[in-house]
Amino acid sequence: MKIIVCNSYEEMSAAAGKLYVDLLTEKPDAVLGFATGSTPLGLYQFLAEQNKAGVIDFKDVTTFNLDEYYPMDPAHDQSYRYFMNKNLFDNINIDKANTFVPDGTAKDVETVGAAYDAAIDAKGGIDLQLLGVGRNGHIGFNEPDTALVAGTHVTDLTDDTIDANARFFEKKEDVPTKAVTMGMGTIMKARQIVCIISGANKHAVIEALQNDLVTTDCPATFLKMHPNVTILCDKEAYEG
Ligand code: F6R
Repeated sequence: MKIIVCNSYEEMSAAAGKLYVDLLTEKPDAVLGFATGSTPLGLYQFLAEQNKAGVIDFKDVTTFNLDEYYPMDPAHDQSYRYFMNKNLFDNINIDKANTFVPDGTAKDVETVGAAYDAAIDAKGGIDLQLLGVGRNGHIGFNEPDTALVAGTHVTDLTDDTIDANARFFEKKEDVPTKAVTMGMGTIMKARQIVCIISGANKHAVIEALQNDLVTTDCPATFLKMHPNVTILCDKEAYEG
């Protein structure tokens, strides 16, 4: 696992973007795993700019997002589908039919996850998975717990995550309490992972990544067991 400290959020976003430029240059039909939240916004802007400038092409790209609130209508302005369309897909030349977000409207919580994992496998697996981290160390919505789930599944959000995400809603009570998330095994199957971490409130996660322990108390520490992970963080996250 490489930890690269960038001077600024902008530098971190561009460094992450460079991994996409390199991958799409080599493999124009790559399968990309995307994340939502505040941290990837600079990267998504960078990718849209590179696409506009003709440096990268998304025509043959397939994408799978990490998670979606549950239950959640994709047309809702706080859905992750809406977020992805607004912040990336509407701004690049991707075919939206090739963009996948877990189904927040699924009736059957038992099968929704397995179907998503099967769809990823059917496309040949994820070449490059983007991750952010929660301040509690979650990746996707794999929250700290005594055990973690391997496959994509419906999960409860912790109070800390609900608090953190309340900033996007009118009031905390409006934040969904569940989500469909890729599981730890789904994430770990990606051939390459880039994890972007910004801001002093994520410093504890950087510390947990620097020692040799893997613990379900901090799901991000599982990344230590993956052979191809780049952690990109800004100075604020690194220094705390
Ligand atoms: C979102 C996701 C989450 C976020 C994390 C950080 O799809 O999977 O794990 O990456 O909650 O969110 P921000 O970037 O808003 O701090």
